[in-house]
Amino acid sequence: MRSGLAAACAVVLTAGVVLPASAADGQSSRPAPGGSGAGDAYFPFAGNGGYDAVHYDLDLRYQPPAAAPAPLTGQLTAVATVTIVPTRHLTSLNLDLRGLTVESVVVKNRPASFTRQGDELVITPKTILPRGRAVDVVVTYGGATGRPVDIEGALYGWVTTRDGAMVASEPDGSMTWYPVSDHPTDKATYDVSVDVPAGLVAVGNGDLVGSTTANGRTTWEWSSREPMASYLVTASVGNYELRQWTTPDGLLNIDAIDRDLAPAASAGLAQTAEMIAFFETRFGPYPFSSYGAIVDDDSVGYALETQTRPIYSRSASEGTVAHELAHQWMGNTVSPERWSDIWLNEGWASYAEWLWSEHDGRTTAAENFADVMAIPATNAFWQTVVADPGPLGLFAGAVYDRGAATLYALRQEIGATAFDALSVEWPTRYKDSVATTDDFQALAEELSGQDLEEFFDVWVWTAGKPALP
Ligand code: ARG
Ligand code: ZN
Repeated sequence: MRSGLAAACAVVLTAGVVLPASAADGQSSRPAPGGSGAGDAYFPFAGNGGYDAVHYDLDLRYQPPAAAPAPLTGQLTAVATVTIVPTRHLTSLNLDLRGLTVESVVVKNRPASFTRQGDELVITPKTILPRGRAVDVVVTYGGATGRPVDIEGALYGWVTTRDGAMVASEPDGSMTWYPVSDHPTDKATYDVSVDVPAGLVAVGNGDLVGSTTANGRTTWEWSSREPMASYLVTASVGNYELRQWTTPDGLLNIDAIDRDLAPAASAGLAQTAEMIAFFETRFGPYPFSSYGAIVDDDSVGYALETQTRPIYSRSASEGTVAHELAHQWMGNTVSPERWSDIWLNEGWASYAEWLWSEHDGRTTAAENFADVMAIPATNAFWQTVVADPGPLGLFAGAVYDRGAATLYALRQEIGATAFDALSVEWPTRYKDSVATTDDFQALAEELSGQDLEEFFDVWVWTAGKPALP
């Protein structure tokens, strides 16, 4: 594969200007390093260049903290096998990993050299990895776990708890617990096994393959056949009771409810089956092979829509349950291509809360919309540009509420028929993929036959309170 490289190693732009092909795109046939990012302006080092990660096989062994009052430190020992497909001939490649210690890296069954540079694990295999040929990268690593925080100071990633771990990694926290191409553009399937002290339960995404107990330890195996963005991966550990049940339509649910919580903490889950059926009438068929909830007695301070199995801190309120369920369509099957597109997740999930509330006979969507529009124009709320809120504004209130109001206003603008078609077509057309705000506008224009440039300009690209539709 190394012959014939010279011919294609340069791109001629205009007479006299020649750039190395590596600076122009990833399609060159000249071998080169993969690169340290996916090109997201908010998190330049999240994700990596030069390959697609297609599957992760994570074998984790976890020892939660010793009995209180010891500090909240756990021990993780792990082997991650990452199957990648190079998109160019690679001399080296990066994975994202923060903290922990890498013991060895093996590529194509041969030891590879590696260095750590910030959150980058830079791996140099013995030979060039040819474009298009799948290869396994095996990383043996581990170390002490703590309670990491994101750029806003919120807990995320592998959050060590008194009796386990709450794993909630949006936006770039997966790198705190496994070597990963940590960006939604690089979705992959997962097999995750977690070996924990017997009595504890490790709960992951997707299907429960099984659990085996020997010598005082239990290994829990989970499998996700549908591609998943890294921020949606969980492997939470706790004193959980597993409850398996099936919706009237035959969808398997696996709930993991912390035994240390009062029953009221999970009361908001009671209408899950009705919510799934309701959102299927709005957004199309539920996109994954199973569902369920994780309710932990520790708190990261928010809930997260971890794929097929949202995780809740201390209690799952009905509105939040509706919100995290709606994300399975709006955010999980279609994910943001750039973190600046986050309003497409949070606006839709918040709008879905309004729909459920109205369906359930409480506050109507019109009333919720009126509440948002009652916020005075002088309020700082209106200063967030929701389609570009900045990395510190990802979870600003306006991303949620102005995002939801935008969708409500869009329905007024294009009419119920086009809007209902859009609500199904968005997660269908971009199933298992990513899309941008421009893609969303284009689809709305396609389905309505209207020019929506000004609408989107005013509602999502410009600060300031929009006029009522
Ligand atoms: N996507 C989550 C939700 O709205 C919220 C995550 C908040 N994360 C944070 N670091 N504040 O359901
Ligand atoms: Zn949300």
